[in-house]
Amino acid sequence: MTGILAALDFDPRLDEFDPARPEVIRDPYPWFDRLRTLDPAHRGINGLRFLTRFADIDQLLRDHRTFVRGDFAEVLARNFGQNSLNDVMGRFMFALDPPDHTRLRRLVAGSFTREKAERLRPRMRELAAGLLDDAIARGGDTFDVISDFAYPLPLQVVCEILGVPPEDREMLRSWTNDITPTVDFVISDEVRARGIEAAALFKGYFLALISLRRRHRGEDLLSELLNAEEQGERLSERELISLAVTLLIAGHENVTNLVGNGLLALLRHPGELELVRRESERVADVVTETLRYDSPVTYVPRQTAKATRLGEVDLAAGESLVALFGAANRDPEKFPDPGVFRLDRPHKAEHLDFGRGITYCLGAPFAIVESEVAFETLLTRLGDFGLAIGEDELTWRPTIWARGLERLPITVTD
Ligand code: HEM
Repeated sequence: MTGILAALDFDPRLDEFDPARPEVIRDPYPWFDRLRTLDPAHRGINGLRFLTRFADIDQLLRDHRTFVRGDFAEVLARNFGQNSLNDVMGRFMFALDPPDHTRLRRLVAGSFTREKAERLRPRMRELAAGLLDDAIARGGDTFDVISDFAYPLPLQVVCEILGVPPEDREMLRSWTNDITPTVDFVISDEVRARGIEAAALFKGYFLALISLRRRHRGEDLLSELLNAEEQGERLSERELISLAVTLLIAGHENVTNLVGNGLLALLRHPGELELVRRESERVADVVTETLRYDSPVTYVPRQTAKATRLGEVDLAAGESLVALFGAANRDPEKFPDPGVFRLDRPHKAEHLDFGRGITYCLGAPFAIVESEVAFETLLTRLGDFGLAIGEDELTWRPTIWARGLERLPITVTD
């Protein structure tokens, strides 16, 4: 059965939604439509509440007192035991609530301004052009946009921000691959084992790098944070390691997926591709519309700190909620013709991309500049190009929280 037919067969009033189903990973949107229309605060797998309406998710994200992130360290201990994974991820910034979150965010906010991101734009252009030239030199007319370009670009940028030496980046890439799927709420034993091992390696690596930076400061973020420490701001070693790994994960895969999802959307909408080729300043619209049309972040999790009402539904205290961004961004009440990729869409800034309020994505200015540079480089340095494989051969990464292609091979035809 095709994805759409399987989705039509799904009745959320009778069946539990399971986002790990292969048909959902491949094309979640028909499933999201069913949920939003028939049961917008659906109780699905593991008792989780899946939210799909734009208005409900918007309200949830703005009210951080009622909808909290909860004790992630405790969830990790329950799922994985007390080990390296907990050491590394237990203090992840995107899993903290105030007051710990407030303190950590204040310490790093100054390093992630729009101005700092803009200052890196020329360097990002250089990195992007180098990667594309290498890909073409290696592969000729056909190469994989994900592994040759969209994956290494944000990794190199975030490594430069952190001060990770170039020779170590491949190693970090493979550990990041192993640790990222552990963030999902449904995982296999193999994923668990690989995640624990990668976390131990990360911990050892960053302990060594921190100790090096204590002796020899550079221009990087770790050095900046160690300087801040000397001026009385306290960040424990565990927090520093957690922050470094947070940035590697958050600052890397989402951008890769945004570039892959956006390029695929352009290939599927030749009129829009033509438009952005003619008017290059439209790369900013490609980034914005991709974040709505095929968001690389599928959901953010929250818990209810107290009994409350969301939309038309009463929620008990302690409920686990999954706010499905991909569903909200295709809510026809908010976005007319939501399934159409349109660069001239009004209300651009309103969709859910980088979140809202106190947890708004710390790295958003960097993500935007990096993605703009990526599209600009691909569209100006390549001639005409098309998919090198059939649409039905495209495969999506089997993670639930992130939506991105495993490969996007293209052939340059001119
Ligand atoms: C397309 C790229 C990206 C998207 C779509 C994205 C999306 C998001 C979203 C939705 C949140 C809010 C999560 C919540 O409310 O619980 C978030 C938080 C965060 N993001 Fe991003 N992100 C991207 C790129 C980046 C980059 C490049 C970095 C760092 C260099 C980064 C670092 C962070 C951090 C540290 C947080 C936690 C913020 C906090 O809790 O205060 N992200 N991101």
